[in-house]
Amino acid sequence: MSNTKKIGILTSGGDCAGLNAVIRAVVNSASRLGWEVYGIKNGTDGLTEKPLAYEILTVHNFSDTPWPRISGSYLGSLNKGVKMESLEEVSKRFGEGVKTLGLDAIVVVGGDGSMNIVSNYCKNAGVKMVGIPKTIDNDTPITEFSVGFNSACQVCTAAIDSLDATARSHSRALILEVMGRDAGHLAMHSALAGGADVCLVPEIPYKIDAIVEKLKEIKVSGRNHAVLVVSEGIKTENGEHIIGAKNLIGENVYGGVGQYLSSELNKRLPDFQTRVTTLGHLQRSGIPTAFDRMLAAIFGAKAVELLEKGETNKMVVWEDGEAKAYSLEEVVKKGTTLLDVHGDYVRAAQKIGMYVGEIKA
Ligand code: F6P
Repeated sequence: MSNTKKIGILTSGGDCAGLNAVIRAVVNSASRLGWEVYGIKNGTDGLTEKPLAYEILTVHNFSDTPWPRISGSYLGSLNKGVKMESLEEVSKRFGEGVKTLGLDAIVVVGGDGSMNIVSNYCKNAGVKMVGIPKTIDNDTPITEFSVGFNSACQVCTAAIDSLDATARSHSRALILEVMGRDAGHLAMHSALAGGADVCLVPEIPYKIDAIVEKLKEIKVSGRNHAVLVVSEGIKTENGEHIIGAKNLIGENVYGGVGQYLSSELNKRLPDFQTRVTTLGHLQRSGIPTAFDRMLAAIFGAKAVELLEKGETNKMVVWEDGEAKAYSLEEVVKKGTTLLDVHGDYVRAAQKIGMYVGEIKA
């Protein structure tokens, strides 16, 4: 049994649909045990900056407004927005913030990067932590699904459906660039759901000539339109990433490879006009799907259950249809989960005739 009485919760990394449903689930479960919940503002900043930024959360925060149906984070989040200071320095301030608020433990809702960074702060500062995975990239280790991924897939699939309609009217090959960083889960899942003709993911090399052949084949079959899904993290044929922006600490943020592909295809196949749609941050802000709200509720309740049992320094995961917990050490050691290039998603895509790059069916 644990002595937990007062916990903090923060959201860290890029936002996604379903975060508020997670916060609600944690607040409601903890409140029923008579615990106090402190909502930490703007990721770890709320604990490391002065003055501390937080709000005491109760069930009323979530019963008066339909937060679980709203995307974004009620608490605010940070996506690599902090200047790099030494781990020791930030951990020290983090620990002081936790001590000042008198928190017994902290729930961190984040992706693989946040689990790594914040678990290090917690380890250095002797703070107990439970992690809940969220990200539209679905690349957090071990868990089969992270909160927010399913909602992002829904946004991408709806975009493919809409592009298909206009592609038909204008006899075009329309390219949809989706997020996902170095993982192709979002591209592959939504390409399958939307019935795209081509799906390029960072994990599988591709040839522009092969895409040209695929488009020619489509024309020969009597169809005058196509939809291509490309993950922002694919490289050019010369092996370069296309960079769309830099974040506040100067790291590259992908963006623009759809345009590269479009101009390459137009050069080789001028009669099949291409246009590019980059979905961007819309993928992070759709209405949370039923699956994500369900996952949020299960993860939130499970996280509080772990704290109640005194099982900390773990992350909850979804595995084989149930919520489980793995040690943060194991999660961090595994790094990022990429798309399994020999798994069912890629295999099914090939079997239904999608070009997914240079990999044997
Ligand atoms: O990790 C989530 C994600 O949306 C990635 O898919 C994308 O590459 C990145 O964040 C965009 O980051 P930013 O919020 O800095 O534009």
